Amino acid sequence: MSETESDTDIAESHRSPGACRAEAGGTLKAIYERRSVRAYSDMPVTREDVELLLDAAIHAPSAVNSQPWAFAVIQQREALTRYAEEGKKLLLGEPPNVEVVESGLPNIDRLRQMASGADFALFHRAPALIVIYATSIEGVSDCYLAAQNLMLAAWAIGLGTCPIGLARPLFNQAEVKTELEVPLDWSAALPIAVGRPAGETPPSSRRPAQIVAWK
Ligand SMILES: Cc1cc2nc3c(=O)[nH]c(=O)nc-3n(C[C@H](O)[C@H](O)[C@H](O)COP(=O)(O)O)c2cc1C
Repeated sequence: MSETESDTDIAESHRSPGACRAEAGGTLKAIYERRSVRAYSDMPVTREDVELLLDAAIHAPSAVNSQPWAFAVIQQREALTRYAEEGKKLLLGEPPNVEVVESGLPNIDRLRQMASGADFALFHRAPALIVIYATSIEGVSDCYLAAQNLMLAAWAIGLGTCPIGLARPLFNQAEVKTELEVPLDWSAALPIAVGRPAGETPPSSRRPAQIVAWK
């Protein structure tokens, strides 16, 4: 180590190339600084901000520009509380259905244990939830691209987000779709909690990219 090399320099040299270049700002900064936020202030998300997020979402690419997405925006506190409770009950019910098992979270038993705690809030008490529905079965992957656009745009305007895969079974229930006026053949791709973060969220770790081939 040179006499002038500090701990900070060493930490810097171990950061990923993208993270270093993110300091320039713009898209890379959003990619590296977005977090799944699990603590929100009560401040409502304005209609203007929701519209901005949806507009960012629909600018995602989609197969043959099919744009197979639609959005349910839920902001009424009563509805959010009720859906959070119903979703939690569904999650804790026996046995876990396929939707729950495929919710994008690996250890379902551990998660169900966590969800059984009195403090557990399925949407992390966010003041808004945006559910992205796929309007065709093949459209689900396009909806995930829309979801990422939405989350990065939210970061850019100072809002936090958290994907809530665990709530997918709830939003795929016929009664809930009917209540939201969602056609029964649409599929809930990803509910996303949105709101102003309460405090800082530390970054989560990443394994290095596993490169299996580079020919
Ligand atoms: C498909 C999907 C489903 C997720 N479902 C949940 C969820 O139900 N509840 C939750 O708190 N976080 C959920 N997450 C957030 C992940 O836990 C989070 O993205 C991961 O731990 C990495 O952290 P980061 O987003 O802050 O980088 C989900 C993420 C994805 C992509």
